[in-house]
Amino acid sequence: MNHILIIMAMEAEAKPIINHLDLNPLGKLDDNLQSLAFSGKINETRITLVINGKDKRFGVDSIGTVPASIATFSAIKRFNPDLVISAGTCGAFKNKGSKIGDVYLSTVFKNHDRRISIPEFDKYGIGNYQSANFEHLIDEIGLKKAVVSSGNSLDMCDTDMDIINENESVVKEMEAAGIAWVAEQFSTPFVALKSVTDLVDGELEAHEEFLINLEKASKALKEKVIAFLELLTKKDI
Ligand code: ADE
Repeated sequence: MNHILIIMAMEAEAKPIINHLDLNPLGKLDDNLQSLAFSGKINETRITLVINGKDKRFGVDSIGTVPASIATFSAIKRFNPDLVISAGTCGAFKNKGSKIGDVYLSTVFKNHDRRISIPEFDKYGIGNYQSANFEHLIDEIGLKKAVVSSGNSLDMCDTDMDIINENESVVKEMEAAGIAWVAEQFSTPFVALKSVTDLVDGELEAHEEFLINLEKASKALKEKVIAFLELLTKKDI
């Protein structure tokens, strides 16, 4: 594997990985985007990490599927990676056995907020995008595996919950399905690693629990992403 592209939404999630790998800033990914690229090597493999950047008007991290998709499009065009990884945080479910700081590897990608009740468009809405299969590494790294379900809201309405259940998903996040669609257009293999900040069916509101656990979950994410990269680049899978 010559080149791995990592797409991340939040600076706080990305910092531990950038620091650990001592990645160098390459500047803006594109003149018209706020996304920032960082570059380095692990073993003999080039690693490019892209943060989707701060929103031009609101100054906050550009979370959600649209900035993630556009950054991925731009980065695949520029770097032509062998593999794209979406690394970040997620909500999960205590009644499905999840704990704060668990890190999940994707098995497939779906949407839970694209409800289009017209024949065939219903399936298009859900997406059902393929994940590159690294399930043989989960025991060695200490990962769990799950269907990753994406939507553009941090909270969850009852309809989202029903579709997440229909999706047989454990992981609720805000970027992966958008990235998966772009990766599919380029036929570039794509996988996600997602670390749990909040339990959607727990006692606290998602936003409160998210902020409490962001640092802990980002550290856990870093450990697992580094272990994953080490294995991929050493064994040349
Ligand atoms: N990222 C972290 N927690 C999340 C949640 N509960 N929903 C969507 N994205 C998240």
